[in-house]
Amino acid sequence: MLSAVERKIEQFIVDLNDKEVRALYSKLPHGKRLRAKLILTIAGSGLSVIKTAAVVEMIHAASLLHDDVIDDAYTRRSRPSLNAVYGNKTAIMLGDILYSKGFLELNAISPEVAKIVSNAVVQLSLGELKDVSLSKTFNLDKEMYLEMIYQKTASLMEASAGAAAYLSGKDKTAYMTYGRNLGIAFQMIDDILDITMDTETLGKPALHDFEEGKTTLPYIYLYEALESKEAEKLKSLHGKKLTTDEQQWIKMMMHNTSVIQKSYNEAKVLIDEAIALMDEKGEKALSNIAIAMIERNF
Ligand code: IPE
Ligand code: IPE
Ligand code: MG
Ligand code: MG
Ligand code: MG
Repeated sequence: MLSAVERKIEQFIVDLNDKEVRALYSKLPHGKRLRAKLILTIAGSGLSVIKTAAVVEMIHAASLLHDDVIDDAYTRRSRPSLNAVYGNKTAIMLGDILYSKGFLELNAISPEVAKIVSNAVVQLSLGELKDVSLSKTFNLDKEMYLEMIYQKTASLMEASAGAAAYLSGKDKTAYMTYGRNLGIAFQMIDDILDITMDTETLGKPALHDFEEGKTTLPYIYLYEALESKEAEKLKSLHGKKLTTDEQQWIKMMMHNTSVIQKSYNEAKVLIDEAIALMDEKGEKALSNIAIAMIERNF
């Protein structure tokens, strides 16, 4: 039923009645469609469900257009990012158009769905702002990191699950908890893959977070694990373009201190909780989504 979601997104874009937007949107590669899959798996394939999934994927695409401007990232979904090809101004405005069309369509679905999803977009934006602010310092506060990734990433997955549960008359609270755990773990894994994978596998820049000033979970744990001289060296590399030697040094230190494994285990705890919740409800397909999510390599 994902193809019905693709067709609905196409239709929403055509509705805008603007040649330039159609041309730009047609150049954007599709992603994994995880959020749409989540919604369809919870709620089936009624028209409101398809529309909600289409809107959420448009909102997600908008957040990535803005995110690549924020992160100075020139590769997305294995292709040059829109900001790389057309510049920041075009990327920002196409993002705004996708967000706004999404909000317009949400109102036509249901006030409750509109409330759940638009509230998540507020959280997402607050989270992206927090990410920018934290990256100006060498953040070592794990609680701040966790709050920020909840807002920027988990809020939309939590809302996707909540809206889908609402549309299908299921217990909203349990599905939202599942979505929240999935989302936090999803971002933790994304932050790990930034370190362990290459650009080709990821389809987006690798080892880029630290250069952008982001001290993700493995970096927070690494700083805690290092002796003072090495910890100082790590700090001195923060927010800078890294040489190949410096990249190798970071990876070696992470290997020696097992911080990748430690971060992965933390994501796994959240995933196990999410799986237990869904197993209890006989939602095997949702447990499988959670397993595939933690085992992914891009
Ligand atoms: C990327 O999300 C942004 C994060 C929240 C880490 P996805 O990895 O779901 O992106 P696509 O849609 O598959 O490209
Ligand atoms: C951004 O996180 C998540 C969003 C809410 C857009 P990242 O900046 O880590 O996402 P990627 O790695 O560029 O996809
Ligand atoms: Mg990014
Ligand atoms: Mg970002
Ligand atoms: Mg990332």
